[in-house]
Amino acid sequence: MVKIILKDIHNLHKIDVYESNGGYKALKKAVKKMKPDEVIEEVKKSNLRGRGGACFPTGLKWSFMPKGNEKPKYLCCNGDESEPGSFKDREIFEKNPHQFIEGTLIACYAMGVKTAYVYIRGEYYKWIKLLQKAINDAYKEGYIGEKIFGTKFSADIYIHKGAGAYICGEESALMNSIEGKRGYPRVKPPYPAKNGLWGNPTTINNIETISNIPEIINKGGDRFASVGAPKHPGTLLFGVSGHVNKPGVYELETGIPLMTIINDYCGGVLDGKEIKMVIPGGTSMPPLTKEECMTIKMDDASLKKIGSGIGTAGVIVMNEDTDIVKVLIRITKFYYHESCGQCTPCREGCGWMLRLLKRIDEGKGRMEDIDMLVNVANNIEGNTICAFGEAAALPVKWTIKKFRKDFEARIKEVDLKLPPKNIVHALR
Ligand SMILES: Cc1cc2nc3c(=O)[nH]c(=O)nc-3n(C[C@H](O)[C@H](O)[C@H](O)COP(=O)(O)O)c2cc1C
Repeated sequence: MVKIILKDIHNLHKIDVYESNGGYKALKKAVKKMKPDEVIEEVKKSNLRGRGGACFPTGLKWSFMPKGNEKPKYLCCNGDESEPGSFKDREIFEKNPHQFIEGTLIACYAMGVKTAYVYIRGEYYKWIKLLQKAINDAYKEGYIGEKIFGTKFSADIYIHKGAGAYICGEESALMNSIEGKRGYPRVKPPYPAKNGLWGNPTTINNIETISNIPEIINKGGDRFASVGAPKHPGTLLFGVSGHVNKPGVYELETGIPLMTIINDYCGGVLDGKEIKMVIPGGTSMPPLTKEECMTIKMDDASLKKIGSGIGTAGVIVMNEDTDIVKVLIRITKFYYHESCGQCTPCREGCGWMLRLLKRIDEGKGRMEDIDMLVNVANNIEGNTICAFGEAAALPVKWTIKKFRKDFEARIKEVDLKLPPKNIVHALR
């Protein structure tokens, strides 16, 4: 299995170990031997897609940045990582921070950026300290700062700590947060490449996306494009949690069958039980049934075909004993709590869905509540400024679509315990 980011090299987080294993050679090659546009072309050739959830082609995104230097340009590296089930970017900060730093500097060079911000959720205290140490060491060695490798290229990298809001991972809320404003998403267009941080051209990329860049420059875009699933190449850091024997972060090629991840890498389902449901890419991604899990391959196109998505590759495995109604309550509670409140459908709809779900769980549900839940979700989806609306609505819609019987059974189970309707009337 190819490894691009989490290589099995002892102490790779230390700058001298990183250097002695070819570290910072890609940066040298880029700034000394390649023109900025050539770097972008190589990234386009690699067909690298964003690892932050939307799978947007990275090279194409970089090419949207204006060429001139009339305005300062910025790069925001997104390490907010607040989606439940996602815990892979912190693995990069811990195990291979210099590859991320090198990727950031190459991205700055390619897009004419002089200032990069790394936005990290504040709770990642340990990983903030580790990354800051790596940044300090890279400054000392002259990889960051003025006249890098004696060229005209200069760049600075700053860490910006988040204050614990999931919405600040959304790229425009993230920029507002860096500007010191409330983390509200912005209406788009204008898009960040035109009007980003302080109104200047800005690109936002996920930490894992950026960490792939040195490999692409070292070995070439074609080589990267040949790894894994052709339309979504490379590796993914799968963060596997839930009912498996060996949860953790596994770097594996895209297109790997889900059951290979669960059985061969994670030691199978806990206590040898059957699978009930798997969320393939963080809680905003629609879940998979046991039958779907048996054949699905883990790449963007394969998952989209069955109405789901790779998201952040945060795989949550749930066994046959799982209470699906309670799982959906937990997920919806998160989105209700985290909605920024700017858009009415999301602000009101998340609370409405939560109340309906709780009503079902508490034995006060009615059969028509199930369709009402789908209706509320449909009225959130596509009617908000940012994709948070979809993140909240899709799990509700698709969990009901795929596990409707569980919701019906919960309502019927309670119906059976209630006295017949005429007795209820008599008691009133
Ligand atoms: C509510 C919400 C939260 C998000 N959180 C993150 C996050 O924590 N990290 C991340 O990289 N992208 C997150 N995204 C996606 C970003 O808006 C953006 O698409 C991404 O950072 C772009 O990087 P990429 O092209 O490298 O994937 C979030 C999106 C939404 C709607």
